[in-house]
Amino acid sequence: MNRGASATIATEREVRADFPILRERTSRGKPLTYLDSAATSQKPQVVIDALDRYYREYNANIHRGVYEIAARATDAFEEARAKVARFLNAAEPAEIIWTRNTTEAINLVAWSWGGANLHAGDVILISELEHHSNLVPWQLLAERTGAQLRFIPVDERGELMLGNLDRLLEGCALVAITHVSNTLGTILPIAEIVARAHAAGAIVLVDGAQAAPHLAVDVRALDLDFYALSAHKMLGPTGIGILYGKRALLEAMPPFLSGGDMIRSVSYERSTFNELPWKFEAGTSNIADAIAFGTAIDYLEAYGMGNVRSHERALLAYAYERLAPLEERGLAIYGPHDVDRSSGVISMNFADIHAHDLASILDTEGVCIRAGHHCTMPLMGRLDVAATARASFYIYNDRNDVDALVAGLEKAATIFRIS
Ligand SMILES: Cc1ncc(COP(=O)(O)O)c(C=O)c1O
Repeated sequence: MNRGASATIATEREVRADFPILRERTSRGKPLTYLDSAATSQKPQVVIDALDRYYREYNANIHRGVYEIAARATDAFEEARAKVARFLNAAEPAEIIWTRNTTEAINLVAWSWGGANLHAGDVILISELEHHSNLVPWQLLAERTGAQLRFIPVDERGELMLGNLDRLLEGCALVAITHVSNTLGTILPIAEIVARAHAAGAIVLVDGAQAAPHLAVDVRALDLDFYALSAHKMLGPTGIGILYGKRALLEAMPPFLSGGDMIRSVSYERSTFNELPWKFEAGTSNIADAIAFGTAIDYLEAYGMGNVRSHERALLAYAYERLAPLEERGLAIYGPHDVDRSSGVISMNFADIHAHDLASILDTEGVCIRAGHHCTMPLMGRLDVAATARASFYIYNDRNDVDALVAGLEKAATIFRIS
């Protein structure tokens, strides 16, 4: 694909051709039907090439060397940061901090902002939908500071209940909430939550791990204070992610990790720290993966985030239609079941087949889905299930993938004698 594309059938073929892994076959000789992009996305050839090119042509450490390839590496690394800033509509690249992933970005805020600003009795408000990455760091912060953790509840269908939000926001210093649920695919009303949190005097961190790959995100229009995401879920490599933060907040925060690169001057007694964004980037960064993430963003922008959304809506609609007869035979779909409120995720259980058995049967057909608690163990309790089987879509999926999913579910029905 080399241009802005709309989701026509020809373009779907073109897009699939960009992902070499989709030409692979399983050991049983089945074509690969990859429906686990919520766990990690596949990588287009251009991203693989960007990694390869860096190591072959200009591998050098950044921000130090005066020689040509070091300057080239530094430029590419900082250009990738600028691409992320543009992609999120941040005010400036200095508001983008490289991290390993979403988890590290959230931990950065919990340790640095939380350590400096939270005190005994302050409230941290999160939702009952959160991935463990946006729950455990706040539990630990609450233990360290004596702050109190409060939850926006979800009902037994996994719907967020915002009726009492203003009461929950009383005394609240920080709201940390996901933009899209990884387990259910629900797109949360982030603009409304942010506005109400700000009106109550709280700052807001949004976990964008499942949203940034699928929706156009404008951190300034949403007035977000912090936004966290992982490159590997949006066509980029593993090991690289970012924290977006408003400059004023980042400026006021103490460093997170310390060592080389993040300092301005060091004596035996004390140190002063670098300016943004490097104040938060201790040690040698993940240069190759940051650069290749920039290439992934180029790819997504050429495809168009609006097209990502419309492609996934169309696939979801088709999947709901194809799955409807199975719902009459005991297939339960969790989450909104509504293309307007869902990102490309279908979380399900089929009669009394264990989610892991379902995933194993699908695997024999080359269909890759995820089974388990999806790092949302407390939410499983709310839904009253031990696990779900989750299929998730991205730009390289098409109707054939949905058909393969349905055929695999029918095979499971036969094996388990579901009529
Ligand atoms: C909503 C959500 N938040 C956070 C994470 C953690 O992402 P990472 O493992 O890349 O840090 C995930 C990963 O699945 C996620 O889905």
